[in-house]
Amino acid sequence: MTSPASPLVATGVSELDLKASESSAPRLGHVRVGLLGCGNVGAALVKLVEQQAPMIEARTGLRLEITRIAVRNLSRGRDVAVPEGLLTRDAHSVVNDPDVDVVVEVIGGIEPARELITEALAAGKPVVSANKELLANVGTELFTAAESHGVDLLCEAAVAGGIPLMRALRESLRGEPIRRVMGIVNGTTNFILTKMTEEGAEYSAALAEAQELGYAERDPTADVEGYDAGAKVAIIASICFGARVVAGDVYHEGISNISAAEIAIAKRLGYVVKLLGIAERDSQTGEIGVRVHPAMVPLHHPLASVRESYNAVFVDSDAAGSLMFYGRGAGGAPTASAVLGDLIDASLNLCQGTHGISGTFTRHPIRAIDETTAEYLLGLDVADQPGVLHAVTGVFARHGVSIRVAEQEGIGPDARLVFITHEAREADLQATVRELRDLDVVRRVGGLLRVISG
Ligand SMILES: NC(=O)c1ccc[n+]([C@@H]2O[C@H](COP(=O)([O-])OP(=O)(O)OC[C@H]3O[C@@H](n4cnc5c(N)ncnc54)[C@H](OP(=O)(O)O)[C@@H]3O)[C@@H](O)[C@H]2O)c1
Repeated sequence: MTSPASPLVATGVSELDLKASESSAPRLGHVRVGLLGCGNVGAALVKLVEQQAPMIEARTGLRLEITRIAVRNLSRGRDVAVPEGLLTRDAHSVVNDPDVDVVVEVIGGIEPARELITEALAAGKPVVSANKELLANVGTELFTAAESHGVDLLCEAAVAGGIPLMRALRESLRGEPIRRVMGIVNGTTNFILTKMTEEGAEYSAALAEAQELGYAERDPTADVEGYDAGAKVAIIASICFGARVVAGDVYHEGISNISAAEIAIAKRLGYVVKLLGIAERDSQTGEIGVRVHPAMVPLHHPLASVRESYNAVFVDSDAAGSLMFYGRGAGGAPTASAVLGDLIDASLNLCQGTHGISGTFTRHPIRAIDETTAEYLLGLDVADQPGVLHAVTGVFARHGVSIRVAEQEGIGPDARLVFITHEAREADLQATVRELRDLDVVRRVGGLLRVISG
C-alpha cells in the first residue's frame, strides 16, 4: 500500500498501548480513509482520528489514516490543521483513488452525495455517512446497493448525532418485534420548548435566544416545522421495520404555532410539551405510522425530563421492554464520535473480508394521519357570554369526540376554554376544529396538542 507524504495519523502512542498492541491486538491492517467534507463534522472527525488512532490500533490492530479530503472551497479556514496536499475539490477523485479503502461522506444534501456513495459502493468500498437528508430520501436504494456489492453502509450519526441508537435498533434489537420508537430528535426545538416551559418565554423570544446561542439556524424552518425530525423518523422506521419509508411519508407539524399559554396549561395539568418523532407498526395490519408533532408528555414519562438541546429516544419493544437512549443529538464532536465508531466497524469488517447485513426493505402501507387516534388538548379563546359552553361542546358531540376534561380560565376578554378529549380519531378531531373556527363565539382556536399516554 502506498502512503501519502503527510498522512493524518497520530504519533503519541503510549508505551502501554504499544505493549498491548504487540501482545494482544490482532494485526489487522492499515485502512486508508477518503473523507468527503471537512466542515463541522468532518473537521471534528479529523481531530478525533488524530487523537484516538493510537488507542484504536492498540485495541483492534487497525491503523486508520485519512489520506484524502474533499472540500468545496480550498481557501476556506478550517477548524483543524490539514496537511497541504490532502485537500482537493474533486470528490470523485477521492472516491476513485486506489489509495482510499473506506469513504466517509459528511458533505450533506442529496447530490453529489448520492452519486459519490453509489460510486464508492460499486467500487467495493465501505461507506460511512452522517447524511440524514440523503438517507431519508434514497436510503433504502443505497442500503440495497451496499448489500449487493457486499460492503457496509453505516449511518449511526444520521439520527440523533452522538447517541448510539441506529446500531442498537439494527443489531442489538434485531430479534425484537419493535412496536414503537418515539423520541425527541431535534435539539433546536427541544431548547425552544424548554425555555417556553421553564421561563414562560414566548416562541419568538425563545427562538431568538436559540439563534443567538447557535442552536438554531438563521432560517429555522427545517427544525421548527419538523422537517429535520421527519427525516430522522423515516430512517428509524426503515431500519426498525425493514420498510421503505421516505421523508415524504412522514406527517409533520412544528412548534411555531404553540403559545406559552398552552404550554402553561399543559404544565398545570401535569404534562410537558415536547416535539416528538414517532415511528410505529401495527402488528395486526402491518401498517406503519410515521409522524412528527408537538405532544403533551406526562411529567413521570422519561422523555419529560429531557431538557435544553438534548435528544432522547424511547423504544417500546417486546422482550426487552422499554428502553431509552439519551445524549447529544448534534454538534461536531458528538456526531464525529458516532462517525468514528462506524468507521472502525466498517474498517474491521473490510480487513476481515466481511460486512454487516442491513436486511431487506419491503413496502408497507403507511397509515394516514387521519386514521390515527389520540387524546387531544385544545384551547379556545371565547366570548364570555351565556350559551358558549353549550355551543362549543355541541360541536365536539356532533363529530363523536367525547370530552374528558373541560375547564374555563379567565373572564371577559381573557376567557378561555380548555378541553382534553378521550381517545378520538384524528379525522374527527380535525373536523371538530374546522367547525369551531366558524363559530361566532370562538375568537381563536389554539394549537392542537396530542397527549402521549404514560
Ligand atoms: N453538524 C451536526 O451537528 C450534524 C449532526 C448530525 C448529522 N450531521 C450531518 O453531517 C453532514 C455534515 O454536516 P456539517 O455540519 O459538517 O456540514 P458543513 O459544516 O456544512 O460541512 C460540509 C462540508 O462539505 C463540503 N462540501 C460541500 N459540498 C461539497 C462538494 N460538492 N464537494 C466536496 N466537498 C463539499 C464543504 O466544503 P467547504 O468547507 O469548502 O465549504 C464542507 O467542508 C450533513 O449531512 C449533516 O446533516 C451534522
